[in-house]
Amino acid sequence: MTAPLLETRALGLTRPGGIRALTDVSLAIAPGERIGLVGPNGAGKTTLMMCLTGVLRPGSGSLHIDGAPLSAGDIAPGVGFLFQQAEDQLFSPTVAEDVAFGARNIGLRGDALDHAVTRALARVGITALADRPVHHLSGGEKRLACLAGVLVMAPRLLLLDEPSAALDLRNRRRLIELLRGMDEAMLIASHDLELVLELCPRVIVIDVGTIVADGPARTVLGDAALMARHGQEVPHSLTHHDHRAHRHVR
Ligand SMILES: Nc1ncnc2c1ncn2[C@@H]1O[C@H](COP(=O)(O)OP(=O)(O)O)[C@@H](O)[C@H]1O
Ligand SMILES: [Mg+2]
Repeated sequence: MTAPLLETRALGLTRPGGIRALTDVSLAIAPGERIGLVGPNGAGKTTLMMCLTGVLRPGSGSLHIDGAPLSAGDIAPGVGFLFQQAEDQLFSPTVAEDVAFGARNIGLRGDALDHAVTRALARVGITALADRPVHHLSGGEKRLACLAGVLVMAPRLLLLDEPSAALDLRNRRRLIELLRGMDEAMLIASHDLELVLELCPRVIVIDVGTIVADGPARTVLGDAALMARHGQEVPHSLTHHDHRAHRHVR
């Protein structure tokens, strides 16, 4: 088996106010692996992602990237985080400048910087928005601009927090196809279970800060009892093909 890109052992984290947000979270992510992170509101999905980026420090347990422990105060190398709220992520006057900020962050300057920005914009299909003020973008465009700003830093692991929330159908579909075409490993927190099914062979269910299931997407999301216990429903596309659910009463 390939060495994990990221591995946590028994992470525990208490948020301000004494809320126990993560308990005993152990998981490994292989290079290029796509994993869905599913759980009710307040389960700890965002907290876990912030912990994996190094933004929040766990109170206990360990986090390794490429086998090396993440030292206190460091931001995880090669890990990109797409915030749930695009407004929290965009702060430069224009889209291109915002993406350039990320490129500068990883030390790019001059032509290399310009080239990286152009490439990131093209990759998410927003070249035409380069000079637009970020506050004039639609919600979907903002999300794509944020994604370009994350991709420009050449992450090997993308943490996507509710990436399809508030996207219209066309932008949602565009996002799915975009993510499907990427080689980067991804952890996708989402209530959009159909998106998770389309993109992620593996699903982790988290509730009250604890991993309660980790396995093949169809097995986990298709487990009606498990899903109900954690405030979820089996996605329609998994029940649709179940002929027992379509038996006609005679
Ligand atoms: N900034 C914060 N300060 C204190 N507690 C927080 C903060 N953000 C979230 N929490 C709490 O941490 C727990 C996990 O929240 P969160 O990670 O945001 O869940 P999810 O992303 O799964 O909805 C919840 O109990 C939530 O109320
Ligand atoms: Mg969240």
